[in-house]
Amino acid sequence: MAPLSTVSRALARSSLRQLPAATTGTTTTALRTMSSSPALRDAAASSSTFESPFKGESKSTKVPNFSKYLSKGSTSSNALFSYFMVGTLGAISAAGAKSTIQEFLVNMSASADVLAMAKVEVDLNAIPEGKNVIIKWRGKPVFIRHRTQAEIEEANSVNVASLRDPQADEDRVKKPEWLVMLGVCTHLGCVPIGEAGDYGGWFCPCHGSHYDISGRIRKGPAPLNLEIPEYDFPEEGKLVVG
Ligand code: FES
Repeated sequence: MAPLSTVSRALARSSLRQLPAATTGTTTTALRTMSSSPALRDAAASSSTFESPFKGESKSTKVPNFSKYLSKGSTSSNALFSYFMVGTLGAISAAGAKSTIQEFLVNMSASADVLAMAKVEVDLNAIPEGKNVIIKWRGKPVFIRHRTQAEIEEANSVNVASLRDPQADEDRVKKPEWLVMLGVCTHLGCVPIGEAGDYGGWFCPCHGSHYDISGRIRKGPAPLNLEIPEYDFPEEGKLVVG
């Protein structure tokens, strides 16, 4: 037979094991009762001590009433109004862009005085035979020589193959009696002196270049003939340079 102390310890252990189960059952039953009874639910809610951490939550979630801003018209009239507004704003924007670009282009284009300088008209009747005239065109001097018949023959008598910059006289003039050239030395850009030099044409005193009566380089450091600008004879007795 087991001793009394052993029996009492076994009884104590079994009672301890049963105690939580009994307590849980009681609690579950109580909760079921509370959730099924509205009165008890209200009472539980009113006695709740829970506070939301989101202060002002209910205010921020309120949706304002926009009904007074809603259109009273039909869907089609609203769409028509939208199309009208989009079209009108588009047209205004396009007109503004066009005006801006136009202003920009007008400002970028050459002014009247610059355009006037682009072409220079010369009255050839004022230049006697055998004389030079210097005009200014686009900031550069232009030599105009009214050549004599003797000068024309002299220019044509030169052996073109012997020239440093071979060019026939007829390729440098549109009318043999009128020689039109830029008055800028092809060496370093000085302005040569007319009716001077070893060849009866132009002489550049800067480094001693000699040009003949056709403006071709004959002696000195200049590598090329004097340049021929764009020009035309629009009518008899008129020269337009440029
Ligand atoms: S610039 Fe004319 S010869 Fe040098």
